[in-house]
Order: sequence, then C-alpha cells, then structure tokens
Amino acid sequence: MRVLGVETSCDETAVAVYDGAAGLQVHCVYTQADLHEIWGGVVPELASRDHVRRLLPMVRAVLADGGLKPADLDGVAYTAGPGLIGALLVGALAGRSLAYAWGLPALGVHHLEGHLLAPRLEADPPAFPYLALLVSGGHTMLIDVEGVGRYTVLGESLDDAAGEAFDKTAKLLGLAYPGGAKLAALAEQGRPGVYRFPRPMLDRPGFDFSFSGLKTAALLALKAAPAGEQARADLARGFEDAIVDTLVVKTGRALAATGRTMLVVAGGVGANRRLRAALTEVAARHGARTAYPRAEFCTDNAAMIALAGHERLIAGERSGLPVLARARWPLAELRAPGEG
Ligand code: KG4
Ligand code: ZN
Repeated sequence: MRVLGVETSCDETAVAVYDGAAGLQVHCVYTQADLHEIWGGVVPELASRDHVRRLLPMVRAVLADGGLKPADLDGVAYTAGPGLIGALLVGALAGRSLAYAWGLPALGVHHLEGHLLAPRLEADPPAFPYLALLVSGGHTMLIDVEGVGRYTVLGESLDDAAGEAFDKTAKLLGLAYPGGAKLAALAEQGRPGVYRFPRPMLDRPGFDFSFSGLKTAALLALKAAPAGEQARADLARGFEDAIVDTLVVKTGRALAATGRTMLVVAGGVGANRRLRAALTEVAARHGARTAYPRAEFCTDNAAMIALAGHERLIAGERSGLPVLARARWPLAELRAPGEG
C-alpha cells in the first residue's frame, strides 16, 4: 500500500509518500521558522495561512519528484492532532478532500504516534519494545512503546516542554527564535558549575518533568550577572546542564523501572550534543542501547505520518468524511491497528 502523508500540526508544512514494500519514496519539509522569528515564537494564525499557501503546491511537487500520479496512491494520511487547531485543519481538510477526490481511503493520524514510529523509517529499525524519550518544542515525554498503537505514557512535562524552556531562556539571552541550538552553542564557551540551577522534580517519584521554574531562575540569575559574554556563556552552560541532568536522571529511572534495553530519542532537542552523550552513558549503565532517528525524521515531518497512517490503513482503519482535527488528543486513547 502506498500512502501520501500530510503534516501541518505546527510550523512545518510537510508531504511524503511511504510505500509498505519499498519504504519511504519521497518527502519534503518546509519550515516556517523565518516567518515566526521576529515574533519570538510561533504565531498560530500566520502558521495556518502559510500552510494554506504551501500545501497543495508541495503535494504536486512531491508527487512529481517521486514520478507518481494520484492513481499510484492507495491512501492518504494526515495529522489530525494534537497541535495548533487552525494549522491542523489545513492539512486535515486538504488530505481528506484529496482522498475523496481521488477515491482513496483517508486516515487522521496522531502526531506523537508519528514521532514514536519514526525510527521505523530507517533501514535497520529498533525492534519493539523500546523506551522513547520525546523532547521537542512542544513535548517532553517518556513513553513505553510495546508495539504499534501500544503506548504507555510514563511521564511528561507538567508545564513547558524542554525545547520551549531552551527557546525561552535563549530569548532572555538575546538569541533569535528558535534559540535552543544557539544556546547550546553559547554554552560550549561556558564553564560548568558557575551557575547551578535547580533540577526540577528530581526529588519526587515518577517520571514527570517541570521546566517553567528553570526559566525564571535563569531570568533572576541573568539580572544579577556581571556584564559580558563569559557570564552569558556560563549561564547558558548552567541552564543546559540542569535540563540535561533532569532528562537523563528520569530516563535512567524509566529504563530501570521498565527493564527496556532500547532507548529511542526523538524530537528537536534530541539533537543536543551534551544530552546525547549523557543519554548514551546512562543507557549503557542500564544495559540499554540508544537509537536516534536521522535529524530529518526526528523533527516534524510527513514521512512519519505516512508510515503511521500506513500501519493503520493496512489494518482497515478509515476516517469518515467529516474532518476531525483535535488540538488535544491523549495518546492513551490509541489502540493497536484494527482494534480501534
Ligand atoms: O522537534 P522539533 O524540531 O519541533 C517542534 O517541536 O516544533 O523541536 C524543535 C525544538 C526547538 O525548541 C529547538 O530550540 C530545539 O528543538 N533544539 C535544541 C537543539 N536543536 C534544536 N535544543 C537544544 N539543543 C539543541 N542542539
Ligand atoms: Zn512534533
């Protein structure tokens, strides 16, 4: 089965074609980061309007790139949630309508299921079960993945996502949005231990996170810091160390609790060098290996949506004609394909 995937849940417009036999055939991502940069964050209405402008030309271009015609497709999968409702509606309406016009089955896909299955886009994917750490601008979650549709959320952020905390603190430091990678680069020049920020919730049992207090601590420290580049770098280093430590300790605990021997790290923050090194080390200590999907599959993309949609479409799942998009959609509502 060959599935067209459409993703518009936030500030990336993405289209892909995934084939059950041949794997990923073609995919394309356009990021709106430049559009939102001057606002210091994603502006939902601007995101929706840009998806409207870009999506259909991108569908045409992706099909042409893959040497494909609508008649070569067997289904359409679109991200139905969670995400920005206006942005989601653009992809969902377009995906559903194209499927109707082409006489194909359509399916609304859970965005996080896409992220959790993204490692399966690689040639040698990790086998189930695995522990997944999803760390992006919108999510910080530890999820036990037993199979397709069999997910247990062990813990998540109660407030800001890790990437959001990176971006907000980067903004305080005068770095342009999204500032996570820029803050990490600045931290390279910083000295460890000059600033010691709290490790939120490490003293509590469970696997939940909280990062909003960290940003406030960084703001207070910045106000009291001496002028100059070194203090900013030291502060960036202290902040990065606090986030990395918190993620790593909780991930270690989750590995111990589940006994999983494979850790999959997904989401944009997974690109952080210090986080990667520390996760690999903690996983090894628990007898586990780590897998990082390629950067282009780690961040928002449609390849993962086409793949997740494929897994369910082949089991006979279908979405009806009414277009349902959900800003909130608990992962716990998902079932294994066909049990739906
Ligand atoms: O998964 P992703 O591309 O998409 C969204 O969540 O939209 O994640 C983007 C997030 C941003 O918050 C960005 O600042 C952060 O990942 N990020 C990083 C690094 N690279 C990207 N955070 C820390 N260190 C990095 N090297
Ligand atoms: Zn995402």
